[in-house]
Amino acid sequence: MSGFTRNQLIHGGDYNPEQWLDSPEILEQDIAFFKKAKINEVSLGIFSWAMLEPEEGKFDFGWMEDIVNRLYENGINVIMATPSGARPKWLADKYPEVLRVAPDRRRNLFGGRHNHCYSSPVYREKVGIINRKLAERFGSYPGVLGWHISNEIGGECHCDYCQDAFRGWLRERYGTIEELNRAWATTFWSHRYQSFEQIESPSPIGECDLHGLKLDWRRFVTDQTVDFVKVEVQALRDGGSALPITTNMMYFYGGLNYHKFAEVIDTASWDNYPLWHKQPEPETAAEVAVYYDIMRGICRKPFLLMESCPSSTNWQSVSKLKKPGMLLAASLQAVAHGSDSVQYFQMRQSRGANEKFHGAVIDHYGGEDTRVFREVTQVGEALEILSELTGSGVKAQAAVIYDWESRWAMEDAQGPRNKGLYYHEAVTKIHKGFRRIGLNVDMPDMEQDLEGYAVVAVPMGYMFRKGFGEKLKKYVEQGGYLILTYWSGIVDDTDLCFLGGTPHELMDVCGVRSAEIDGLYDWETNSGAAVPGNSLGMTGEYRCRNLCDLVQLRGAEEVLRYGSDFYAGQPALTAHSYGKGMAYYVCADFEEDFYNDLCRKVSEAAGVKSLWVNLPEGVELSTRQDEKAEYLFIQNFNPSAVEWDEVPEQWQQIYGEVSEKLPGFGTKVYKRAL
Ligand code: GAL
Ligand code: ZN
Repeated sequence: MSGFTRNQLIHGGDYNPEQWLDSPEILEQDIAFFKKAKINEVSLGIFSWAMLEPEEGKFDFGWMEDIVNRLYENGINVIMATPSGARPKWLADKYPEVLRVAPDRRRNLFGGRHNHCYSSPVYREKVGIINRKLAERFGSYPGVLGWHISNEIGGECHCDYCQDAFRGWLRERYGTIEELNRAWATTFWSHRYQSFEQIESPSPIGECDLHGLKLDWRRFVTDQTVDFVKVEVQALRDGGSALPITTNMMYFYGGLNYHKFAEVIDTASWDNYPLWHKQPEPETAAEVAVYYDIMRGICRKPFLLMESCPSSTNWQSVSKLKKPGMLLAASLQAVAHGSDSVQYFQMRQSRGANEKFHGAVIDHYGGEDTRVFREVTQVGEALEILSELTGSGVKAQAAVIYDWESRWAMEDAQGPRNKGLYYHEAVTKIHKGFRRIGLNVDMPDMEQDLEGYAVVAVPMGYMFRKGFGEKLKKYVEQGGYLILTYWSGIVDDTDLCFLGGTPHELMDVCGVRSAEIDGLYDWETNSGAAVPGNSLGMTGEYRCRNLCDLVQLRGAEEVLRYGSDFYAGQPALTAHSYGKGMAYYVCADFEEDFYNDLCRKVSEAAGVKSLWVNLPEGVELSTRQDEKAEYLFIQNFNPSAVEWDEVPEQWQQIYGEVSEKLPGFGTKVYKRAL
């Protein structure tokens, strides 16, 4: 269970009634519209601090209470936010320390949002006070489902408080300055520190090339932010609320390791704004699927789609309308991947300021006879039909490792391709390869366990965090099938290169040693051609670019060989059996077709069972299940219909058009008893 649901899929989103307090008739009208669109939730208070505490210590929660009551009387629940995402002017004026200091050490003026220091004692205190009061007032209201901490937490601050906290964090991590010097390799360029007091956060006007420092700074920023969230949560608990907690996240946001938030939240939630219709829709759907699977992995249970746009998004370079049917398909994709909600930004379009042209369920016209309103209603109807699957989980046989810390370290490094390593693309291609054969995919980080997966892929696992190499070794030894790619097992936890050969700890598992890696110019390509009779049954020839790893065989079988350059004829893909399992080493950044074939072949070899291995292009298959039933989503992200008549008998269709086709942007859902 996500904890937030009351046995129904949540349908709602961000609502800002504080912008309409002078128009009570509009608020009344909104409630009537919400009911028509089968909205059963709104998220309140996200940016309401100035209206909740107009002056320091003077609280006005009456308007909020009236609205919460009116909503509840009409069957609409509330996810209540804490207001720390944006602060009132009086707070910044009286306590300038709450404002953020940029990496160049300049303090920001008041403005925007997210503009605050996570370490500032005053900010923590003021947030604590209002959170506690909110919890006292609303923390056990019948219609309140849970807490939405702040909003899209992110960014960093370089003020004196943060510097002090960073030094304390380092002292705790390293104990002595000698140990820190060793871990960061500070002898390089004579940057040795004599004491922790000398350390400064990375800055464009100071130290910005020391990778160990930068990596630890990012870890610290995550830990400090998690600590801030802890303070927020504690205040809610002190106010007597036991309701579940979430915070809304953003994609692959680079500033925070989202996995670390699992210890302070009950449910992960995220905000999804894909650029639909910019490229063929199946491409976008496949990219979004990766994010969904990452979000599901954070708390390892159903998550919430906290925001999505019902129409066009005004901050993107082009505000594209969603074509008819797209909203429904995109919304059900969330549910297919394990979301217990479909929520929008925003319920009613604001009249002024930055987001006045952002899509909304109810726009400035203010009527229900709009295309968007009708499509939102269709989503509401679908969610009502599918409500029985609320809380069901997703079981995956394949895992693709996605690790924030390794990504940070890899992206910071100089070489082997400063023009672009294409990590994200590598992750997506492998994920897509498994999805093409109808598999659910989990995306754990290096700390989560790998038990139960038939296949584990590690694309560009540059940094092997403590124990990760050992974990992979055990996984293969015990019968797991591992796909490891180039640029893996290169450095340790503090970004020090492993000595004695790479992939670290896995040379015997993979039966290869990576000897050199060639960076390719943008216009260069190479290829990998299948070695006749290889054990994996690969037959094609595939193009590769960007990075080509030259490996020395240490017992592995060659499956593909490079086609050109001075390494023509050398291995480009290898296979090696180890213990009860197999390890495949992908030497180069291959094209998508390669991964489609590789994932299929390796899954077959691993004995993975999938429901449909021959999915039509652009069709996604996903399953959710609980103890009683399994649910199968078949979604067509092509704008036009595809033939589909393959569902076996024990599946009963519970949603979607009954026909031998899958309509364009169409979804069908089936169920079978377990
Ligand atoms: C999100 C944010 C919302 C709103 C939305 C617009 O990132 O959390 O408050 O600004 O974008 O798309
Ligand atoms: Zn600070």
